[in-house]
Amino acid sequence: MRVLGLETTCDETAAAVVSDILGGESGQILSNEVLSQIARHAAYGGVVPEIAARAHIDALAPLIVRALAHAKVDLSQIDAVAAAAGPGLIGGVLVGLTAAKALALAAGKPFIAVNHLEAHALTARLTDRLDFPYVALLISGGHTQLVAVRDVGEYRRLGSTVDDAAGEAFDKVAKMLGLPYPGGPQLESLALEGDPQRFDLPRPMLGRPGADFSLSGLKSAARQEILKLGALGEQDKRDLAASFQAAIVDVLVDRVRNGLRMFGEASGRANGLVIGGGVGANNAIRRALTRLCAESGLRFISPPPNLCSDNGAIIAWAGLERLRRGLTNDLAFAPRPRWPLDPSSSDAHHGKA
Ligand code: KG4
Ligand code: ZN
Repeated sequence: MRVLGLETTCDETAAAVVSDILGGESGQILSNEVLSQIARHAAYGGVVPEIAARAHIDALAPLIVRALAHAKVDLSQIDAVAAAAGPGLIGGVLVGLTAAKALALAAGKPFIAVNHLEAHALTARLTDRLDFPYVALLISGGHTQLVAVRDVGEYRRLGSTVDDAAGEAFDKVAKMLGLPYPGGPQLESLALEGDPQRFDLPRPMLGRPGADFSLSGLKSAARQEILKLGALGEQDKRDLAASFQAAIVDVLVDRVRNGLRMFGEASGRANGLVIGGGVGANNAIRRALTRLCAESGLRFISPPPNLCSDNGAIIAWAGLERLRRGLTNDLAFAPRPRWPLDPSSSDAHHGKA
């Protein structure tokens, strides 16, 4: 089976074809076309929804043509068309969703509405054939949450941010250090040569019960240090980057440790811990979580950075997982700018689904 997957929820326009292998146990990426819009948004210091929606319209159709060509298939050889139907920016979601429905209708194939967070959560099954159940840490510019993944469509939120997303915190502190948007990756590079102990930044939520995150206090504390210093020298920037990253790593590790314990108490042993989302590319975070998992003999799965950040292959794979279970959708499926993975949780209150 082959699924075409479209991603347009934020600032990446993407189309990919994934086929199943090993009787559906895993998948093979036949093509994965991603176009980042970062250059169009950089001047504004963040993603501008209206610009994003228009850019998706410009980019999506040619990307779909390329994704099919690179996969060496035409539409008649696709078994379903999947699109990320949320959570995300409504203008962008509408572009991908409408394109997927139109293609499905034209080809007479099923349409599948994929939750973008579900796609991140299921990626480890594509890359590493991970069996259910497991725990997924989803960390990106728009979301930060820890999810128990029991099966396709069966997710329970263990914790989520009560304020900023991890990527948002990275980007805001990076901006304070004079780095261009999105500054997360450059902040990581600066931190390599910095002293993580020079600035004593807070570790919000550390030691508290539960697995919720809070990152805005850490960001504000970084701002205070910058104000105290006045002019920032190059070494100040490196030390601040290293101190901030060390604090965020400590917070993530503490929260994930609690979340894994909560999972264990409720459901027994997890088969692994998975990361997804753009911040999942951060090596300090990967190393710290590798250590945490090694302590408890848990498998740690970190998909390659290009599959952590937004792309079409993870949407196509989630579509394939759904198709195999007969979970297809009606063409009337409405976009869901807010779409908590766990409807029983209070994700929606935080505005960061
Ligand atoms: O998942 P993603 O590509 O897009 C969404 O936000 O949905 O994630 C982008 C975010 C940005 O905030 C970016 O700064 C952050 O991920 N990021 C990083 C790193 N690479 C990307 N943050 C810290 N360290 C990195 N290496
Ligand atoms: Zn994402």
